[in-house]
Amino acid sequence: PHAPPQVPYILPFFGNMFEFGLGPIKFFQKYRARYGDVYTMLVFGRRMTVCLGADGNNFFFNAKLAHVSAEEAYKTLTVPVFGKGVVYDVHNSVLMEQKRFMKSALTSDNMRAYVPMIVEETQQFVKRWDQKQGVVEVVQAMAELITLTASRTLFGPDVRSQLDETLADLYHDLDNGFTPLNFLFENLPLESYRRRDAAHVALKNIYLQILKKRSIEMDNVKPDMISHLLNCNYKNGRNLSHEEIAGIMIALLMAGQHTSSATSSWTLLHLAENPKLAAKLREEQIEVLGSEDAPLTFDALKQMPMLDNVVSEILRLHPPIIEILRKVVQPVQYPGTNYVIPEGHYLMASPVVTQMDPKVYRNPLEFRPKRWTEDAKKDYVPSANEKVANDEVDYGFGVLRTTSARSPYLPFGAGRHRCIGEPFAYLQIKTILATLVREFDFALTDEGMAKPDFTRMFIMPLSPAKVEYTRRNP
Ligand code: HEM
Repeated sequence: PHAPPQVPYILPFFGNMFEFGLGPIKFFQKYRARYGDVYTMLVFGRRMTVCLGADGNNFFFNAKLAHVSAEEAYKTLTVPVFGKGVVYDVHNSVLMEQKRFMKSALTSDNMRAYVPMIVEETQQFVKRWDQKQGVVEVVQAMAELITLTASRTLFGPDVRSQLDETLADLYHDLDNGFTPLNFLFENLPLESYRRRDAAHVALKNIYLQILKKRSIEMDNVKPDMISHLLNCNYKNGRNLSHEEIAGIMIALLMAGQHTSSATSSWTLLHLAENPKLAAKLREEQIEVLGSEDAPLTFDALKQMPMLDNVVSEILRLHPPIIEILRKVVQPVQYPGTNYVIPEGHYLMASPVVTQMDPKVYRNPLEFRPKRWTEDAKKDYVPSANEKVANDEVDYGFGVLRTTSARSPYLPFGAGRHRCIGEPFAYLQIKTILATLVREFDFALTDEGMAKPDFTRMFIMPLSPAKVEYTRRNP
């Protein structure tokens, strides 16, 4: 047994950092062709063993707690931002309970109540845009719209009404403390770190005040997450403390904000590139609702597969999270090889590699929402489909909804750390986009389609990324 192959490098310590940083997806693909699914790179003094392909995904996402730890990988980044007692500051079994609380807030009834709120926020937001036509910077606009809609729905009216300068500034300072640098160093004597810590304290206090007010008024029946968490008990009977709820709310903010705003930004850009597709989405709405003016509802959205497929295809082509990490806490053998990955290495999964693999998806670089429809089964490369029979893994149609960690399509991860926000993210993104295509025609500007910005923690279009809009009924 020996360690996996190491990608060569010249500079000690920095290692493969520059080549990797400039184009992580290219890097994964290039060295996968050379070494296979498992190899190690050196990045800023850290040995990172990547686990690619469907088998790599499966190994990574189903690894035992005795072997790998998410908290050891993420805590330098997350604990100063989320705070103590939640997520990666607690034993995995506690995180599992906390995730169950978060997930159980996203009931159909709550989500049903969110749709009109998201529509209203979106309509209010675009009132600021020029009367007839103009150009909008997509990343900025979507970031704002996601903050507004998530605050209104998940965080509730008290947070939404405070989304003034103060709250916006605090979110901004927290964000600037949630970067690749913060992953590498928990604390540095820098202004951005000082502001991060101050923002954490201030934001927590705002949430704590809201929680106190809610519990005094026994106001815990709203459809938002705060209400729900106020009613949650651990298995041992203990309530979630206000401190914990506040920490969870910050964690939800960080987990949901950039992922969803990146996804809606890419969606808007691709709709601007494909005006015919936007028109078809309008037709789909008319088919389901009878008219373009009828209010969007939760149940109607469920009957719009085309809209769903657009978002799914965006998440295949532009998953916001392309590096998922664990730390090896006990040497672990990679199945089917002689490789033993040493303690202290990081493991890195990158499902985007299978999502863009021509052995799995025909013309993987093409944006083709139709891939996800029943009659597009033929779109999948036969060798991958043949594998289905052997593996009981559905590589073609249906792969989307599978929770198997061996799936080539995993924008929300898999296993114990899998995303709990998926239904909310889909609802939020679909409602925003459905509302926007009703009101506007979009087109790309002369600058064309944006490139991905790989310097960000969550991959989004390189800004400024612009689209032109024209009001349909000025
Ligand atoms: C976990 C992606 C939206 C809350 C994850 C993971 C991925 C992911 C890949 C797995 C991380 C890991 O294994 O280390 C996404 C994408 C989103 C999205 C692509 C939007 C398009 C959201 C939203 C929320 C949320 C809206 C909250 C409302 C969480 C939580 C976890 C998680 C709590 C669990 C982390 C853990 O167990 O360690 N997400 N997410 N996500 N996500 Fe999301």
